[in-house]
Amino acid sequence: MKLLNRVAVVTGGANGIGRCACQLFAEEGAKVVVADINESGKQVADELITHGFEAMYINVDVTEERNVQNLIRTTVDTFGKLDIMVANAGIAETIPIHQLSLENWNKTINVNLTGVFLTNKYAIEQMLDQGYGVIVNTASMLGHIGRNEVTSYTASKGGVANLTRTLAVTYSKKGIRVNAVCPGYIDTDLIRNKSAEMMEELIRLHPIGRLGKPEEVAKAMLFLASDDSSFICGTNLMVDGGFTAQ
Ligand code: NAI
Repeated sequence: MKLLNRVAVVTGGANGIGRCACQLFAEEGAKVVVADINESGKQVADELITHGFEAMYINVDVTEERNVQNLIRTTVDTFGKLDIMVANAGIAETIPIHQLSLENWNKTINVNLTGVFLTNKYAIEQMLDQGYGVIVNTASMLGHIGRNEVTSYTASKGGVANLTRTLAVTYSKKGIRVNAVCPGYIDTDLIRNKSAEMMEELIRLHPIGRLGKPEEVAKAMLFLASDDSSFICGTNLMVDGGFTAQ
């Protein structure tokens, strides 16, 4: 077991990639905190407990500083420490900038970038006290390339990608490793509102010939969260079926 007795928080743990990470991390021996704004996260935690794993749901809006402080405090009060923070909660929208309202821009930036700022900030505060810890942020391949009309999302994920590098440079010597996964298009609810034509186009754009599965991203998260990646920090690991290799 790669995460035996580690304590892991997964934001956006109620659904999609985060939910798969909660399941996989529990199977690898971690005590898992399912952290999500959606109360369905409780069901995810309950199912893990039913299968004999240690888990807990904490309701959190990652854009609310007090919520995030409470998330870290409750995790440490309950499980005694925080080994792993997976900052994964995110939303997506596709609107060209000339039609994008400031309100919509702020919403995406708040969840995808400020949410990562807050969860990383308070996780690192705790990890500095401990002298160890691992952070895995969910950026995106769209934090590294442009994409037609995907305005606020690409900007937010570019921010996560580079914030990850700076935190790695700043905290590696203190025993804290910070990395990011950068998924291609993954078959989750986040992209299910797209037309059949658009889905075909997205599949075609991946050299591997299909969309990714959330489990495949969770496995990359496990690698970055475990000691298998002990010499890796500040990396943005593409999990994109070759999309950005072209
Ligand atoms: P999803 O929609 O299935 O899951 C996202 C989760 O985040 C949901 O459970 C949702 O309730 C939660 N969430 C949203 N806003 C929140 C907030 N303010 N506070 C706390 N939780 C909140 O989407 P998916 O695909 O699993 O996305 C996970 C991450 O992966 C996101 O950061 C997304 O940007 C990223 N990603 C997804 C890709 C895809 O194609 N599905 C591609 C690249 C990156």
